[in-house]
Amino acid sequence: MTTPVLQTWPVQREFDAKNMPFRRLGPSGLRVPLFSLGGWLTLGGTVIGDPVKEIIKTAFENGINMFDTAEAYAAGKSEEEIGRVIQELGLRRTDLVITTKLFWGLRKGPNDGGLSRKHIIEGTRESLARMGLDYVDVIFAHRMDHNVGMEEIVRAFNYVIDKGWALYWATSEWSAQEIEEAYHVANKLGLVGPIAEQCKHHMFHRERPEKEYAPLYKKYHIGTTTFSSLAYGMLTGKYNNGIPENSRFATHSDFFKDTIKQLELSEGKEQIRKVKELTALAEKELGTTMAALALAWVAKNPNTSTVILGASSPEQLLENLKAVEVVPKLTPEIMHRIEKILGTEPEPLPSYGRPVLDRLGRI
Ligand SMILES: NC(=O)c1ccc[n+]([C@@H]2O[C@H](COP(=O)([O-])OP(=O)(O)OC[C@H]3O[C@@H](n4cnc5c(N)ncnc54)[C@H](OP(=O)(O)O)[C@@H]3O)[C@@H](O)[C@H]2O)c1
Repeated sequence: MTTPVLQTWPVQREFDAKNMPFRRLGPSGLRVPLFSLGGWLTLGGTVIGDPVKEIIKTAFENGINMFDTAEAYAAGKSEEEIGRVIQELGLRRTDLVITTKLFWGLRKGPNDGGLSRKHIIEGTRESLARMGLDYVDVIFAHRMDHNVGMEEIVRAFNYVIDKGWALYWATSEWSAQEIEEAYHVANKLGLVGPIAEQCKHHMFHRERPEKEYAPLYKKYHIGTTTFSSLAYGMLTGKYNNGIPENSRFATHSDFFKDTIKQLELSEGKEQIRKVKELTALAEKELGTTMAALALAWVAKNPNTSTVILGASSPEQLLENLKAVEVVPKLTPEIMHRIEKILGTEPEPLPSYGRPVLDRLGRI
């Protein structure tokens, strides 16, 4: 294992947030851009070498200073490429918010994945070595490990923080009950709990981020770092008339076979119909694109700390960043019309006929 190194490269680019809004990441003091960039399937995967640099440079020059990756993305190549590009572009480490995730591991050994103390500690060190960084800002548990006790998980992430290898820890696709348990254990032991949940959140996937986690936003003020907010590209409209060559569903047809199959079923066809209706609303009334509308809609949610974008070219990224200007255009009236088209709003918790309380009645 290579020893992580301190920043040694000369700074060539100063960060300018431009018009990017920043939010706190959950209850923490860490400020994150409303739109960040992730590397799943793209950076180090379908995109390698100079094009990775072009995408990250475009992001950085347009107000994105947060980059998300994971040990398992492109079998470690995503972390390597992101680390290489940060160095080659001469970005100042303190300007950046770098997040990575542990769980899936890279090898098949019994201790090469999961959330044991052993993998959390070794996995963190290996990720840092691949990126050539001496710390990440946030380390995520990429999934819950049901074969490890919560106390071991909480203690191990706190150890990683105490060592200075990560500044905060967070979860990804944990159930509300698991996050609740993590807080309970952390509070009991006087340790720090997770500050964020990295969850899937898009117009057709709402139950967990909008309903299941609702008590966590109130009690612990956790924030979300949302992923697949374009439903893998479907919410750009690119799959309205089949699967274009070189698109994600073409290049990863096996991985997405169930999603692709669903497009042919009545549910999928209904979603495409809604995308077309929303596209008309985006273009005619907001002067924007479907992609920008879909991303702005997730960003508008007050529990969203950052929407993690995915892009396989600088052009896609620039199109998606138009969402920054769309967020303030999402008036209650427009949101209501979107809701009417979508029809996907989760049912509220039942009140059993009791009168609804106003805002001050919240626990
Ligand atoms: N924690 C987790 O379990 C988890 C899971 C998934 C993702 N994530 C994180 O979230 C990030 C984003 O997820 P995602 O990549 O699934 O997001 P997404 O926004 O739903 O999909 C991004 C993909 O859609 C296509 N696309 C994006 N913008 C487009 C545009 N303007 N026009 C046409 N096509 C466009 C591109 O694919 P093609 O060009 O190839 O079609 C792009 O790679 C990931 O990189 C990762 O960091 C985390």
